[in-house]
Amino acid sequence: MDHTIRPAVQGDLESITAFTRDTFSWGDYVPERFEEWLADDATQVLVAANADDHPVALAVCTLLSPIEAWLQAARVEPASRRRGLASRLNQDLTTWAKSRGARVARLAIEDWNEGAISQTAALGYRPTCHWVYAKRAVGAASPVPEGNGGQRVATAEKVMQAPSGESGPAYLSWTSGPLAAPARNLFGRDWRWRRLEIDDLEHAGRNGMLFEARAGWAMAIPRADELQVAWMETSEEDAYALTRSLVDLAVDLGVDSIEFMIPKVDWLVGAVRRAGCDIEPLTVYSLPLA
Ligand SMILES: CC(C)(COP(=O)(O)OP(=O)(O)OC[C@H]1O[C@@H](n2cnc3c(N)ncnc32)[C@H](O)[C@@H]1OP(=O)(O)O)[C@@H](O)C(=O)NCCC(=O)NCCS
Repeated sequence: MDHTIRPAVQGDLESITAFTRDTFSWGDYVPERFEEWLADDATQVLVAANADDHPVALAVCTLLSPIEAWLQAARVEPASRRRGLASRLNQDLTTWAKSRGARVARLAIEDWNEGAISQTAALGYRPTCHWVYAKRAVGAASPVPEGNGGQRVATAEKVMQAPSGESGPAYLSWTSGPLAAPARNLFGRDWRWRRLEIDDLEHAGRNGMLFEARAGWAMAIPRADELQVAWMETSEEDAYALTRSLVDLAVDLGVDSIEFMIPKVDWLVGAVRRAGCDIEPLTVYSLPLA
């Protein structure tokens, strides 16, 4: 059966929810993000619709900067897989992004997801950098104490909110330090990666999301129930101290969990593991839109 690729509309939510509810063992984020994507001028949501005009697949592309496109949420209902739908959606989205000036398209895939890795490799996407998503519960929600055993003992070092004036030193330290190269100068916020600019740190400073300690800097975004650490600048010697003090910050904020998106560098991964996080490796892939 032939499918039509078209922009998603509000009325598609029910069909999309029906085939995305249980995509992964933990469920899926697509139904709850769908309306936000539709309302965003920088985002294009495409569906593949069957002969009855019911969506059986979708994919989403967002322009994260004038030249960087981010693809996500490729989902095909199980009965319609291996018919080229995800690949057609991806190609139409990169055509859309290119027509708006994007020079590179990127996406992230968890390293266990061999189907998605094969599918995007066939389209020409190549691994750019390796990352680790690290997460742990904190405070009352935590099954393990925050410290190294026994009662929680706050670290001697505290992270403090940094003013936007700290963005210069933080950015300079990062660009000349050991973490920018493995990150390929990218940072991952809300599971979307793009190039980190000094303006991002300035913006974080103005909005209370830039933190500093002797052990380094971090961009951390407090949400209702979690603290999301989207960027860190530290050294091998100080990585654990910074990680621990960010866990303490999460406890002080009263959130249920803390999550880190970090480049896959052994000593940094070791630090978040030692601080009690579970980790999930993933890779960011890129396709030049020449
Ligand atoms: C991954 C997914 C989007 C692929 O969609 P799809 O429409 O079946 O993919 P396509 O038909 O365009 O695949 C094109 C090619 O990619 C490769 N491929 C796709 N799925 C594959 C799989 N499960 N295993 C191995 N290779 C695969 C094949 O080379 C395929 O060509 P072929 O069918 O002629 O052999 C779909 O399986 C899906 O919805 N999975 C669950 C959600 C998910 O993991 N999304 C990606 C999150 S990053």
